[in-house]
Amino acid sequence: MKKNSSKDIGGFSRRDFIKASAVLAAAGLGTNRIYAAGSDKIRVGLIGCGGRGSGALENHLAACKQIGRDVEVVATADWFKGRAEGTGKKHGVPAERCFAGADAYKKLLATDIDIVLIATSPNFRPVHFEAAVKAGKNVFMEKPVAVDPPGARRIIAAGELAKEKGLGVVAGTQRRHQNGYRRQAFEIENGAKGRITGGRVSWCGGALWYQRQNQGESDADYMIRNWVSFTEMSGDHIVEQHVHNLDVANWFIGRPPVSALGFGGRARRKTGNQFDFHSIDYDWGDGVHIHSMCRQINGTDGGVWENFVYSGSDKKVDVPDVPEFGGPYVQEHIDLINSISAGKPLNEARNVAQSTMTAIMGRIATYTGVTIKWDDLVKNEGSKWYNLTLKPTAEDFEKGPVTAPEDETCAIPGKD
Ligand SMILES: NC(=O)c1ccc[n+]([C@@H]2O[C@H](COP(=O)([O-])OP(=O)(O)OC[C@H]3O[C@@H](n4cnc5c(N)ncnc54)[C@H](O)[C@@H]3O)[C@@H](O)[C@H]2O)c1
Repeated sequence: MKKNSSKDIGGFSRRDFIKASAVLAAAGLGTNRIYAAGSDKIRVGLIGCGGRGSGALENHLAACKQIGRDVEVVATADWFKGRAEGTGKKHGVPAERCFAGADAYKKLLATDIDIVLIATSPNFRPVHFEAAVKAGKNVFMEKPVAVDPPGARRIIAAGELAKEKGLGVVAGTQRRHQNGYRRQAFEIENGAKGRITGGRVSWCGGALWYQRQNQGESDADYMIRNWVSFTEMSGDHIVEQHVHNLDVANWFIGRPPVSALGFGGRARRKTGNQFDFHSIDYDWGDGVHIHSMCRQINGTDGGVWENFVYSGSDKKVDVPDVPEFGGPYVQEHIDLINSISAGKPLNEARNVAQSTMTAIMGRIATYTGVTIKWDDLVKNEGSKWYNLTLKPTAEDFEKGPVTAPEDETCAIPGKD
């Protein structure tokens, strides 16, 4: 693996910052402190101090170290006080800036941070991302970014606002920052492979963890602890996990699919209301069909991959070297910071929202047994799927006690 040199993506100098600041000032975007000369220190905050959030924070610190930027962890936020304080303590954050509860994200966003890392369960992402953009923060947010169509559209809208404000937005669809994938994407974009005519994508593996509700525990606490079991929190595992593979399909094909028809079911899961497996024929238009399959059942054969069939091409292209320091999980933070420093902030909101919507479209197809059209999720306001809103919503969690959906059940496709 090639270490970043000052010539490529890492190693921005003060002169680079000054230049970038001038570019941005001219564009009216000079308020983003990461561009600004003389403020080399990055102030970061974390919303969602669980497994991935803590990992993303470590990745962010490693990225800053690699590119020679000072960094301070200014604040943490979590639904649970112990988690906010536990992560905060590890990174020297004073207890008064370790926020807990439903409005912890608002308190964190009111601090002096430049970048916020968002890694709660996906159902909260649209509200938290929108608030972060309105507060003028650069964002790294984990995938997926919504659980229903209005949520995915809200991410797209907030992403557009981020563009207007000159903010950087990178999503945890880390394959887009991974050497092998980026090189392949370059070949496709430059005509070295021909066009994609079909393919298959898979995330099939074992069951994830689950949690039981404790005696006397509120439904909100239970759902937040057991979020990978409830469609209302995770979107189902087709959205939560398989989104990575669907994202590669959208990226390589260059557009989202037009419809999905599929089937799935639940036989072995404990708790919640998700399916165990989904199998979908996605129609990407222009005669391109991709088979998508995902399964979470122990003791079954599996695999995580994307395979595409190409029409073929004789064109030879020189694929440039693509930096990847510390794996894609660190590189995505390097790319975020460097894009802002260079005055060309990355904005991945639309990509990740479309890939999340692709997975949501597949889930609605398997839950109902009906062909679901992309336009009914993004355009046709009269469609019943356009306004499909999973409840309790993120706002419901802020308003007061919520009631969990029925446990140990699932959707039944078809009509009696
Ligand atoms: N890119 C990847 O490869 C990858 C890998 C794992 C997880 N993820 C994603 O990261 C996200 C988090 O997953 P995880 O495994 O860390 O889950 P987790 O349960 O370990 O952590 C989630 C944390 O968010 C907190 N939280 C939930 N709702 C909150 C709210 N409203 N306000 C503040 N805090 C809240 C929880 O208390 C918990 O500490 C998910 O979207 C998941 O899909 C991505």
